[in-house]
Amino acid sequence: MSKIYKPVKNIFKNPIFKDMDDYDNLVKKFDENYEETWGELAKENIFWQKPFTKVLDESNAPFNKWFKDGKMSVAYECVDKHLKTRGEDIAILFEADDGTNIKLTYNELAKNVNKTANLFTNVYEIKKGDRVVVYMPMILEAIYTMLACAKIGAIHSVVFGGFSSSALRDRIIDAKAKLVVTADGAYRKGKPYMLKPAVDEAMSSGCESVQNVCVIRRNFEPIETNPKDSFYDELIQTQKETFQTVWFDSEDPLFLLYTSGSTGQPKGVQHNMAGYILWAKLTMKWVFDNKPDDTFWCTADIGWITGHSYIVYGPLANGTTTVVFEGVPTYPDAGRCWKMVEQHKIDQFYTAPTAIRMLHKTGEDEPGKYDLSSLRVLGTVGEPIDPPAWKWYYETVGNSRCSIVDTWWQTETGGHMVSPIASCTPIRPGCATLPLPGIQAKIIEQDGTPTPVGEKGYLCITKPWPSQIRTIWGDEKRFIKSYFGDCVYGGKPVYFSGDGAMIDESDYITITGRTDDVINVSGHRIGTAEIEASIKDCDMVASSAVVGKPHEIKGEAIFGFIVLKDENSISKDDLKIKLNKILKEDIGAIALLDDIVIVPDLPKTRSGKIMRRILRSIVKGEAIVQDISTLEDPNIVSVIEKLCV
Ligand code: WT7
Repeated sequence: MSKIYKPVKNIFKNPIFKDMDDYDNLVKKFDENYEETWGELAKENIFWQKPFTKVLDESNAPFNKWFKDGKMSVAYECVDKHLKTRGEDIAILFEADDGTNIKLTYNELAKNVNKTANLFTNVYEIKKGDRVVVYMPMILEAIYTMLACAKIGAIHSVVFGGFSSSALRDRIIDAKAKLVVTADGAYRKGKPYMLKPAVDEAMSSGCESVQNVCVIRRNFEPIETNPKDSFYDELIQTQKETFQTVWFDSEDPLFLLYTSGSTGQPKGVQHNMAGYILWAKLTMKWVFDNKPDDTFWCTADIGWITGHSYIVYGPLANGTTTVVFEGVPTYPDAGRCWKMVEQHKIDQFYTAPTAIRMLHKTGEDEPGKYDLSSLRVLGTVGEPIDPPAWKWYYETVGNSRCSIVDTWWQTETGGHMVSPIASCTPIRPGCATLPLPGIQAKIIEQDGTPTPVGEKGYLCITKPWPSQIRTIWGDEKRFIKSYFGDCVYGGKPVYFSGDGAMIDESDYITITGRTDDVINVSGHRIGTAEIEASIKDCDMVASSAVVGKPHEIKGEAIFGFIVLKDENSISKDDLKIKLNKILKEDIGAIALLDDIVIVPDLPKTRSGKIMRRILRSIVKGEAIVQDISTLEDPNIVSVIEKLCV
């Protein structure tokens, strides 16, 4: 077993968790009195304009309700609450691609959010419950938009700027969005790039629900203007800087965020107000030891849940300074992040293993050129981190004095679930360690029996938690089937994450990866069914199966097995170009095939089910241990194996 690293003494001043006794005590408190403990934390951390009458209502499980009858406001928690005591403190530190900075105080943030809320209300007539799709670069207006939605009770659905116009259109249509907020584009690696053309294209093909497109000008490149378009900078001038706080029910929806599952259709994961903000704030404090006087930098994009919870909602609810970065970590060189850490005296830095591997590979010695002594915590998320990347992160970036928090969670969980607590948990490379207090994470078999130490089991959460996904937008049946259809515990269906995991003698949890047909490319989830549905659009293709193949930087890369209608109609290289063009248009650059092989057939059972596990073993170069006798044509396995060498 690999070495254990304890938090370095004197790094953490007045932490909430001084040592593992503090952790054990809170875990025990939850064990003895689950609801009451959540209730206490909710009272301490959230301002209740009207107190809740019940902590958890499970009467309609799995559609659980938290903090029933309570009235509160997420925008108040993130902005207005801080104005009396810390209005002149920096809320957001924006760094543009070209290195210029904007330091925005909480007072300034409040004014901008209020003006935006007034614009949405007065000009676009957005009301509580209306859906607003946000297709934006990493700029301040994206944060104003999210918080303005929270302020008026509109449900935002941020769509990652790397998704194509057709993926954007699908999400607009599924949510029946009334407003789309976008930008002309922004800057990346010193050059302007565009977003607005994708919105134009989406709007030209059936987004009837959209009444207005609000355009922010960032790079001032020429764009088309359509009848539904209007410009943020023109309309915002006349909006008032005040906005009367509106109080919402705990269970009013806060946002939708689409993510991939095992079918071709992405799922609109719905999070509601009180439970989500409580856990975003608590994990911010607990896991990162984040304090209001700190500067916190999460390198994610707001298009992903990490950006929602740990760029916007968690940091602002905790009253800290959050860094919003427009650029990329490797521009102008692989020292960019470390230069920013030095310049802004970053306390906590949070990124993904794929970025760590990239920075390690392209700039191994770069961290040594900067003063990184402000750092206390280094975070990682999105996929398992391999030991060499971990070691470099710990020793070279963290100078063997920072705690690494390997945080396991998902779009559906809203915030961290299994993770070290920086100030107290002894850590091990590649290990997410222990469930956070309040989180009942268990490794079990499908029937609920605990999986023996050292063996792979299903990672389930056996009790509801406040920031749990509430439903899949517009599809309650799919919600139940996706998350509560696989495992039972104590005779009841429980939340299954889709991940496999192992537990060791000290109860530490190691994540082993997805057990469903979801690939994790650079920490981003993409469903094999979505990719295969796009590949079908190519009229030369008869059928296909894609699987994840281990990749040095991306973690997993997409590998396609393609059956052609006419086997000799196109070369492998030309086919790959053709398919990637389709995938880029249908989904976006994250869905591109890394490699393909043209095969005469796929390994199918007699009932026609593709045996993906066999294909996964083939791309990994593993020996086939599965029983292939049930295949329609067992010989196909060796044929495909030969084609792959
Ligand atoms: C999937 C969730 C959570 C924000 C980013 C991704 C994988 C996440 C870890 C980790 C190993 C991890 C899981 C999970 N994952 N964190 N620390 N170690 N794997 O959110 O797109 O919803 O993806 O990412 O497979 O199910 P997401």
